[in-house]
Amino acid sequence: MSGDDVIQKIVDALKPCTHKKMAIGVLATGNGSNLQALIDFSKSTTCAYAIHAVITNNPQSRAPARAEQEGIANYVVDHREFSCKQDFESQLIMHLQEHQVELVVLAGFLRILTTHFLSHFVDRIVNLHPSLLPNHKGLHAIENALRAGDREAGCSVHLVDAGLDTGPMIAQSSCRIYRTDDLEALRERIQKLEHKLLPLVVNRIATRALEGTFT
Ligand code: GRF
Repeated sequence: MSGDDVIQKIVDALKPCTHKKMAIGVLATGNGSNLQALIDFSKSTTCAYAIHAVITNNPQSRAPARAEQEGIANYVVDHREFSCKQDFESQLIMHLQEHQVELVVLAGFLRILTTHFLSHFVDRIVNLHPSLLPNHKGLHAIENALRAGDREAGCSVHLVDAGLDTGPMIAQSSCRIYRTDDLEALRERIQKLEHKLLPLVVNRIATRALEGTFT
């Protein structure tokens, strides 16, 4: 399946979009620099999505402050405060539904979601991963690319299915790995790619989903 076919699959699941701009919800765990890239892009005239809600599972994450700065609804849902995964995910679902989120964007969200969550957003969840999938799935992808002696690294945006970083690919962006690279140098190079790729992909989905909706 090509990236365009995957986008079409998402668009089919999204239609009809009920907002003038596609409503996205962003889940993030750490620094939230990819959330920031989505926020920054959302200010451009060509942007077809709007961020309706931001959720983190980590009280130390910078994502809520970044959202707050822009007046975007934001929540800390600490997974450690729930006795089971299903209750944690139900809380995420509740916030996303409350804000009529149409597409869920996992932007550095470091929890594995179960079918309970996935069943509420079938074909409407995309994930960003810091490797050229199918290489280096899961945690420590950048370390693993370095350790494996790869010459090329990059990032991937894919549709989420029940596996770990296994869903159909939408788009990838790649860079070289230099012999002198340490973890920080490579991480920085990959993050620059992520900050461009993720908003572009989300915007492409939004643009296609809105085509013909408000004419
Ligand atoms: C990104 O590199 C993402 O690919 C990975 O975690 C990082 C999150 O960075 N899963 P940030 O929180 O968006 O700054």
